[in-house]
Amino acid sequence: MKAFAVGAQGEQPAHLEIDTPEPDPGEVRVRVTAASVNGFDLAVAAGWMAGFFEHRYPVVLGREFAGVVDAVGEGVSGIDVGDRVLGVVSKPFLREGAFAEYTTAYADGGLIGAPEILTDSEAASLAHTGSTALAILASIPEPEGKKVLVVGATGGVGTLFVQLASAAGAEVIATGRTVDGRELLSELGAAHSVDYATLEASVREIAPDGVDVAVHLKGDPGEFASLVKDGGLLISSVLYSPDMFPDADRLTPVPIAGYPSAEALERLTGLAGSGELRVIVDREHSFDEIGQAFGEYGHETIGNIVIRIG
Ligand SMILES: NC(=O)c1ccc[n+]([C@@H]2O[C@H](COP(=O)([O-])OP(=O)(O)OC[C@H]3O[C@@H](n4cnc5c(N)ncnc54)[C@H](OP(=O)(O)O)[C@@H]3O)[C@@H](O)[C@H]2O)c1
Repeated sequence: MKAFAVGAQGEQPAHLEIDTPEPDPGEVRVRVTAASVNGFDLAVAAGWMAGFFEHRYPVVLGREFAGVVDAVGEGVSGIDVGDRVLGVVSKPFLREGAFAEYTTAYADGGLIGAPEILTDSEAASLAHTGSTALAILASIPEPEGKKVLVVGATGGVGTLFVQLASAAGAEVIATGRTVDGRELLSELGAAHSVDYATLEASVREIAPDGVDVAVHLKGDPGEFASLVKDGGLLISSVLYSPDMFPDADRLTPVPIAGYPSAEALERLTGLAGSGELRVIVDREHSFDEIGQAFGEYGHETIGNIVIRIG
C-alpha cells in the first residue's frame, strides 16, 4: 500500500510502498479516507519523538483519521466490516499511521462510529484534537464563570476547546491573528477574541486583575504567564513537564496529554453528531501534497488541515 513514512532511523519521511498492516487481536483495520495534520506528525518527522516512543520502521506518520472498517481482529465486537469510523492511532510504539491507504487502531478507545452529519474531512479532525480539548477542560475545576485565556485558539485543538469551555460557562478570551479567525472564535462562543500581536494590552483591558486560567496551545507562555492571577492555572498542550513552565512559584503548571479514551470519543461524537460541536476544517490536500501541508501547519490556519486519501 502507499504510505507517508519514515523508512529508517534518521531518514526524512517520504511516500513509500509498504506492506498493508494486519489487525492484531483487539484491533480493526481501516481503509483511510481522510487524515488530519497534527503537531505530533511534525515532531515524528523531525525525529523529536525518538526518546518518547519505540519506533518500529517503517514508521507511518498521521494520527487522526476517518475511514471504513476493512478487517476486524480477534476478540473485537460491536464494530463490523463496512462501518464508517473515526479515530486515532494511539499505540505505545510508532509503526502504523493514518497517512496511508490502510491503518490499524484499537477497537476500544482508538475509534468509534463517525456521525453521519460529519464529512470525511471533519470526521478526521475530531478524535485527537477533541480528546486533547476535553483533557484541557477536565483540568479546570469548576470552569463556570472563570476567565480563561486561550493562546493559539484558531487551531484544531483551540476551535474545539473554545466551544467546550464556553458551553461549560467559562468566559473565554481567545486569540486569533486574522479577522476571519477572530470572527469564527466569537461565533464558536468566545466572549472575547483578541489579536495575539497586542495580547497583553487587550487582555488587561478585559481582565484588569488577570485571568484565572491561561491555556497555552501556541507561542511563548513566558510572554503571557504574567496575565494569570496568583494561584491560577497555566495549562499547556505543548510543555510536557512542570519544570518547563514559567512562573511555577506563582501558578499551577498543568501539562496535558490528550488520550482518545472510549468515553472521550463517545462524548465528542455525541456532541458533533447533534450539531452542538462544530469541527472546523481549514483546507484539504491530496496525499501527494503532505509535504506542503506540513509546511502550512500552524500558520494562520483556522481549524485543521486534512489530507484526502481514499
Ligand atoms: N499534548 C497533546 O496531547 C497534544 C495533542 C494535540 C495537539 N498538541 C499540541 O497543541 C498545540 C495546538 O495544536 P493545534 O493542532 O490546535 O495547532 P494548530 O492547528 O497549529 O493551531 C495553532 C494556531 O495558533 C496560531 N498561532 C500561531 N503562532 C501563534 C503565536 N505565536 N501565538 C498565538 N497563536 C499562534 C495559528 O493561527 P493564527 O496565527 O491565525 O491565529 C494556528 O492556527 C500544538 O503545539 C500541538 O502539537 C498536543
